[in-house]
Amino acid sequence: MKGIVLAGGIGSRLYPLTRVTNKHLLPVYDKPMIFYPLQILVDAGIRDILIVTGGHNAGDFLRLLQNGKEFGLQQLSFAYQEGEGGIADALRLAEPWAKGDKICVVLGDNIIEGDIRETATKFEKLEQGAMVMLKEVTDPERFGVPVFESGRIIRIEEKPTEPLSSFAVIGVYFYDATVFDRIRRLKPSGRGEYEITDVNNSYIEEGSLHHGMLNGWWTDAGTFESLWHASNMVREKVLRNANAEETVQVRGA
Ligand code: DAU
Repeated sequence: MKGIVLAGGIGSRLYPLTRVTNKHLLPVYDKPMIFYPLQILVDAGIRDILIVTGGHNAGDFLRLLQNGKEFGLQQLSFAYQEGEGGIADALRLAEPWAKGDKICVVLGDNIIEGDIRETATKFEKLEQGAMVMLKEVTDPERFGVPVFESGRIIRIEEKPTEPLSSFAVIGVYFYDATVFDRIRRLKPSGRGEYEITDVNNSYIEEGSLHHGMLNGWWTDAGTFESLWHASNMVREKVLRNANAEETVQVRGA
């Protein structure tokens, strides 16, 4: 399976922070935001990774990440999104690179505590279809929200004013090669974007969308509040790990 990080868009919700740089280059505690989605893919055992970005700062990604050595990678691939036509519009650019392989897509502003290995392994075993990951949240109206009937997702609503469940579809998606045909069939949404939720709904219509639950915390980092929250959560995790390591060293001494 190949991996894709989507790091385009203008990040207008973070103006003026994003006036002269790309949102995914902003710091989240001790690392640039893009490091986290990249690490999610690497931790899932994915080594062939494409980064889709755009705007005036696209070259900074190459300068920052180079060939991905810091992540144990030999090479990274890059694609350039013109404009900001939405998540599915950015994903469309990955078609010639994916070459018919299954893909795992991570949104560039998504940060998780744990890993996605279990879901990735389940998806690898499926012959076809797609898989999304869910997390229970207190503010589902900010996200894609699944609507359930007898335990099955019957549709996903994008940022509903009255959410019909308390779950969010997080920004980690697994797709078979039909995803690109589905994107071609999309029409722009009310906000003028090609929506990833419409792609997922097309799999639901065929009965081939599966879902997994994410363990541990999850946050996006695309608003002032969520960026602040993400930095705090990462800081707590870093300090917890450092304390645990110190304890092990003291015990071993
Ligand atoms: O974080 C999870 C949520 O992400 C999902 O629950 C929603 O269903 C999904 O639509 C998305 O919602 P957002 O409104 O938060 O997406 P946003 O526009 O902030 O874009 C998320 C990432 O996608 C962004 O960090 C970079 C990438 N992107 C976005 C756009 C609009 C692109 O690469 N190109 C784009 O044109």
